[in-house]
Amino acid sequence: MNSQDAFETVAIHAGQEPDPLTGAVVPPIYQVSTFKQDGVGGLRGGYDYSRSANPTRTALEQCLAALEGGLAALAFASGLAAEDALLRTACSPGDHVLIPDDAYGGTYRLFARVLAGWGLSHTVVPMSELAAVREQLAARPVKLIWTETPTNPLLNIADIRALAQAAREAGTMLVVDNTFASPYLQQPLALGAHAVVHSTTKYLGGHSDVIGGAVVMADPDLAERVAFTRNATGGVPGPFDAWLTLRGIKTLAVRMDRHCRNAMRVAQMLAEHPAVAEVFYPGLPTHPGHKTAQEQMRAFGGMVSFRLQAGEEAAVRTCARTRLFTLGESLGGVESLIEHPGRMTHASVAGSALEVPADLIRLSVGIEDCDDLLDDLRQALQ
Ligand SMILES: Cc1ncc(COP(=O)(O)O)c(C=O)c1O
Repeated sequence: MNSQDAFETVAIHAGQEPDPLTGAVVPPIYQVSTFKQDGVGGLRGGYDYSRSANPTRTALEQCLAALEGGLAALAFASGLAAEDALLRTACSPGDHVLIPDDAYGGTYRLFARVLAGWGLSHTVVPMSELAAVREQLAARPVKLIWTETPTNPLLNIADIRALAQAAREAGTMLVVDNTFASPYLQQPLALGAHAVVHSTTKYLGGHSDVIGGAVVMADPDLAERVAFTRNATGGVPGPFDAWLTLRGIKTLAVRMDRHCRNAMRVAQMLAEHPAVAEVFYPGLPTHPGHKTAQEQMRAFGGMVSFRLQAGEEAAVRTCARTRLFTLGESLGGVESLIEHPGRMTHASVAGSALEVPADLIRLSVGIEDCDDLLDDLRQALQ
């Protein structure tokens, strides 16, 4: 790749040179567990066993590293497998981390129900409030700051550059879950973050047909250590999953443009709707993180959340009344999805500092015709 190549070009070509053997224009699915050695230790291209490395996965990893502007990327079986491997590499039992006051429920569950038992303690901090973060950093040694921006499901915005600066001054590291934005809209490593994680299940894959995760890093030493953990613990994606993700990435830019355009119109319609109490979308000038989002993102993403005037039961009923928005967990696919975070994706944060409002509805706005989507929401809200 030429270093001047634009994002769209990198997405289609990075790690995806035509196959040297056959000229195949997309990387083949190397559906294989082991590789013949030319004499003991005589590996062809460094491949011996697909848990350690697989050529289809290598293509995906080279592409992800290029898209995030990282030195190395590692693909995982899921977003949570990626998070777990990174955290258990970067931290040790006895360490303390800062986590956001809004985040994917499964991420919170990993910190609160798995890693806490391993010896990793955490403090919940609103990452959009820099003074609160600095206060925590001054109060005790912190091994790592974990943030999402925009957050799931309340679309809070954290200032990545300012957090990275605070992390550096405190001698700690900043990890950004970039799932909601995707590297097309936001590149945290360029803003000073030390590592980026993804649920590639979402916008990167883009078609609701594969589960996957990734860690992208600027530091080769950290990358080597996370690769060791992944090989030692085994949370790798299969070759077909890597191939599906890579195929999705080719159209990331065009999909994201449409997601963002549709989501903006949906947010604007909801903001005017009498049944709606509050809309969460960083593209609205009324959003408290709008200015920061404008500075660090290319556009505002495809996720929109809103609260209903009529309360929880009305929210649950609305989720079941849409025709085009499919009621389901997950996000980031070409098809629109609707869900009730309190009872679905975020059930695991009930009773915690991350609990979400009971009357909240989350939309993953797809790339269908926007007028059709608006009509569907209006009839469901009637
Ligand atoms: C922001 C965010 N991070 C991480 C994950 C976990 O990813 P996965 O479901 O691929 O394990 C999700 C899943 O919904 C998510 O929304």
